[in-house]
Amino acid sequence: MKSLIIEINNSIEVFEIKNLQDLESFRIAFLGSKGQVKALYGALKDVPNEQKKEVGQLINNLRNLAEEKYNNFKDNLEDHTNLNQHFDFSRPGDVNEIGSHHPIALVRKEIVDIFSRIGFSVSDGPEIEDDWHNFTALNFPPEHPARDMQDTFFVQKGEKEMALRTHTSSVQVRVMETSQPPIRTISPGRVYRNEAISARAHCFFHQIEGLYIDKSVSFGDLKQTLLYFAKEMFGEQAQIRLRPSYFPFTEPSAEVDVSCSICNAKGCNVCKHSGWLEILGCGMVDPNVLEAAGIDANIYSGFAFGMGVERITQLKYKVNDLRLYSENDIRFLKQFRASW
Ligand code: PHE
Repeated sequence: MKSLIIEINNSIEVFEIKNLQDLESFRIAFLGSKGQVKALYGALKDVPNEQKKEVGQLINNLRNLAEEKYNNFKDNLEDHTNLNQHFDFSRPGDVNEIGSHHPIALVRKEIVDIFSRIGFSVSDGPEIEDDWHNFTALNFPPEHPARDMQDTFFVQKGEKEMALRTHTSSVQVRVMETSQPPIRTISPGRVYRNEAISARAHCFFHQIEGLYIDKSVSFGDLKQTLLYFAKEMFGEQAQIRLRPSYFPFTEPSAEVDVSCSICNAKGCNVCKHSGWLEILGCGMVDPNVLEAAGIDANIYSGFAFGMGVERITQLKYKVNDLRLYSENDIRFLKQFRASW
């Protein structure tokens, strides 16, 4: 019995453990329920009584030895993941794939930053809107044909018919209802229109609308603000031009073109050889809109503007198909990297 114990002791000592697999074999061989140490305990019953104490002690020592060796290697292998194995330190590391920001998120942030620098705050509102905030308060009377300008998705909310907001002007109504001038805010957000999906139109897109209301705000302030925006967004050489237009909520209204940054206003496919690209709508807030939201139009005036983020992104990054923004094709998305 004693010689068997010495033999097992030797095998424990010489057992080579190089990796987790060896460690498991070691455990099974010596410490497992069918292992050699366990077997010795089983054999103890046949040892003459007067030797039982001494032999028992030897087996205990053996078990301690095996356990100690097992635990030492276990800690070591787990800490240094197979340090005892050959390890090729020249092997290239596994590259961590870094995600990228969506181009719409990049440009939205850029636009928000540009307006933040001149004191505009950011306001937010619901995407499912009531008729009042999306239309009526913005001077769209019921049945007014101007409602057709923005093909609307209607949804039923209980008894009430609601709309998926067609523009974020609805958020501006909410801001006017809950605060008094001076108001200087922009509302970025997703908007919905019932349009057939093509390279040039989509049933949802993103807008940033701006609103500035104070005493004696003029059309000149509007123009200067938009020129500042165009230069910050498209570069110092950018110019703007305003063309008369119509929106129910502004009077006078204008559409704004920016000089084509792709051909330097010389004329190309994108600007249809005109040198100009349309980027936004704007105007002086109609006094009816101010009054509907509880702002005294005799004291205050203001301007508003609204632009599509996809449109600005298209010009900035020369993306020619609107559908790319929502198809989640990573070959497209991976091309955009943020500097923040
Ligand atoms: N709300 C308009 C649109 O969605 C844009 C706009 C905003 C025009 C503010 C003028 C003033 O088309």
